[in-house]
Amino acid sequence: MRLDKYLTQAGIGTRSRVKEYIRKGMVTVDGVAETCCDRKIAEGASLVTFQGTPVGFQKTVYYMLNKPAGCVSATKDRHDRTVLDLLKDISTKDLFPVGRLDKDTEGLLLLTNDGMLAHRLLSPGRKIPKQYLAKLSQDLASEQIAMLEAGVDIGEERLTLPAVFAWRDRQAKEALLTIIEGKFHQVKRMFASVGCQVLALRRLSMGTLVLDEGLAPGEYRPLEPEELAKLRELAKLEDR
Ligand code: URA
Repeated sequence: MRLDKYLTQAGIGTRSRVKEYIRKGMVTVDGVAETCCDRKIAEGASLVTFQGTPVGFQKTVYYMLNKPAGCVSATKDRHDRTVLDLLKDISTKDLFPVGRLDKDTEGLLLLTNDGMLAHRLLSPGRKIPKQYLAKLSQDLASEQIAMLEAGVDIGEERLTLPAVFAWRDRQAKEALLTIIEGKFHQVKRMFASVGCQVLALRRLSMGTLVLDEGLAPGEYRPLEPEELAKLRELAKLEDR
């Protein structure tokens, strides 16, 4: 099959858009940049990548998991139960979690075999917002909240990017924090930087995808077509 047809059928874009990508050198075949649209591809034998991500014809699947505390966001682990171990009635072949939540964090985790969508959603440049619900050790003053929103020093090269804070229940010390990056332990480190501890953390949303409150921790379900369409739109992937 021609390379441009292969990429079009794999859902990378329209034929003309795909030709543009190939000419710009954004596509490799077996590790070498390929700029000829009519290069012949042996399906299953050639390794084709677009912007560094392998492109294949495998059927893509998407699940929303309400991650429970106590398992790790990995596909394999020597000591701990992984999020894939929770999926009982479906094939987990090639499935992986999109991003990581700490072992003790609960909430929204997207599991898929769609490397392109994952790559786009996790790319720091896209600044996909993620909202967390944090149970805090103490109340916060408006100055501390302003610091969290403006950017705090968590020991990285730069201050954190602007965030949005809101109380969900101030009495209960439950706060909502929306961040547009994904540094290691970011939410906990942000609150720690203003002298506050996170006692429990749950992710409620990632971009347009919102945790289904009907899912108990450990439960999962396939994404609804509309949820997937919105995510693909957010990731600027064209309709398949
Ligand atoms: N920030 C954290 O501190 N932990 C998570 O699991 C996710 C975001």
